[in-house]
Amino acid sequence: MSSLTRIVTWSQNLVREVLNPGDLAVDLTAGKGRDTLALADAVGHTGQVVSFDTQAAALQQTCELLQNYDYVVSNWTDDREIRPGSQIVLVHACHSSLEKMLRRRPKAIMANLGYLPGGDPTLITGPESTLSALNQSLALLSVGGRLAVTVYPAHAGGIEEAQMVDDLFVSLPREMWLVLLLRVANRSEAPYLLVAERLR
Ligand SMILES: C[S@@+](CC[C@H](N)C(=O)[O-])C[C@H]1O[C@@H](n2cnc3c(N)ncnc32)[C@H](O)[C@@H]1O
Repeated sequence: MSSLTRIVTWSQNLVREVLNPGDLAVDLTAGKGRDTLALADAVGHTGQVVSFDTQAAALQQTCELLQNYDYVVSNWTDDREIRPGSQIVLVHACHSSLEKMLRRRPKAIMANLGYLPGGDPTLITGPESTLSALNQSLALLSVGGRLAVTVYPAHAGGIEEAQMVDDLFVSLPREMWLVLLLRVANRSEAPYLLVAERLR
């Protein structure tokens, strides 16, 4: 298949553009770990990636993937503050705990909404915790940083969540944020991408 409409790849590329070795990056939805791996590759061995998921099975897959690439992984089972140092921190908790766990500002935050590919499709991200996590992300992001959200409007409940994410990004003040919407113009059901970059 053509890479043109592979939204997840666009998302990874657009956050990688602003990441440098040593930065902090956050994956709000670890899933199978592919976004976490992309972030880890961008921040390097001196940086840190904090990844959340509510499913142990997802974190297990993410852990195995990262270890296959020789990253050092720490598993976090509560919402204690995360100190700089651990390379990859996998948090078994809802992403709405983000704010109280970070001590420094992330340069990039990704959220790939929906359900774990190959997993239980009823265990999906929900509008309430997604909105909370995205608002916290916007407040935390460092200047020049990017928040990238991949939205899936097609699955059950997806439309409501998509509308909520759209409303949030559209409402961001233009003096402070650049906002990009990337979507497949002739497939309304396809996943799409929203990216906000903090200007000041
Ligand atoms: C589409 S998958 C993520 C894909 C992943 N980024 C990757 O690269 O493979 C969505 C994930 O969000 C997780 N999730 C759902 N609700 C969550 C929540 N409140 N906090 C954190 N993760 C959540 C699901 O368990 C699922 O693994």
